[in-house]
Amino acid sequence: MHIVLFGSPGVGKGTQAKRLRERKNWTIIATGDLLREAIAQGTALGLEAKSYIDKGELVPDSVVNGLAREQLSKITGGFALDGYPRNLTQAVQLDEWLSDLNKPIQKAILFELPEEELVKRLSGRRLCSECGAVFHIESGPSQKGDLCDKCGGNLITRSDDEPETVKRRLAVYSEQTQPLVEYYERQGLLVRVSAEGSPDEVFERLIQALE
Ligand code: AP5
Repeated sequence: MHIVLFGSPGVGKGTQAKRLRERKNWTIIATGDLLREAIAQGTALGLEAKSYIDKGELVPDSVVNGLAREQLSKITGGFALDGYPRNLTQAVQLDEWLSDLNKPIQKAILFELPEEELVKRLSGRRLCSECGAVFHIESGPSQKGDLCDKCGGNLITRSDDEPETVKRRLAVYSEQTQPLVEYYERQGLLVRVSAEGSPDEVFERLIQALE
């Protein structure tokens, strides 16, 4: 199956994408993760992306589309796109590529959560600086406190999870990503999934939505 996962920053897309990879063995393409990897490696692309990410703005389409295209060309089985597309230009470009590859999007899953809960998820998120594992200080803490219980690396707060940047990211979502709801609804691909409750509960709903 070929799907898009979208929804506000902090709604839990990454958390659910990892579960899909484990359950279904699908390829996950997460543009946010790819950009953070490029930043960590100090590449020219990473440096350019950082200036946008730290302000809570979208990275230019030319940069993100290049990254996504490269990953898409390698896919052989099912896949889920996490955080891509994020505006109409990207969505149209994606549809063109996938049509050429004969792998059209079959469902666009929109995760929904009240803003108050989104802010709680973002402000409590901690990321391993070594392996990228994601924790939450309340809903999913590391068993080793400030260290990652998978690799022992230091847990950090994502620079774009600072309150001012979060405000901007939520506004950018409303302005630029929200129009995708109508885009996928018109194609009959939109499926709304409540992101309330525990990660397990959300995953159960997601699996039902895919059936
Ligand atoms: P990206 O990394 O994609 O960020 P995002 O879309 O803002 O989403 P997040 O990663 O913040 O949240 P999430 O929904 O994945 O939630 P998570 O599972 O981590 O992008 C970052 C930046 O890169 C963008 O702002 C932009 O600048 C750039 N970028 C990326 N893609 C781009 C594109 N296509 N075009 C242009 N620019 C692009 O969960 C959040 C927290 O909640 C975690 O702590 C988690 O443990 C916890 N949690 C998850 N689920 C639950 C639950 N059910 N109950 C309780 N806690 C939960």
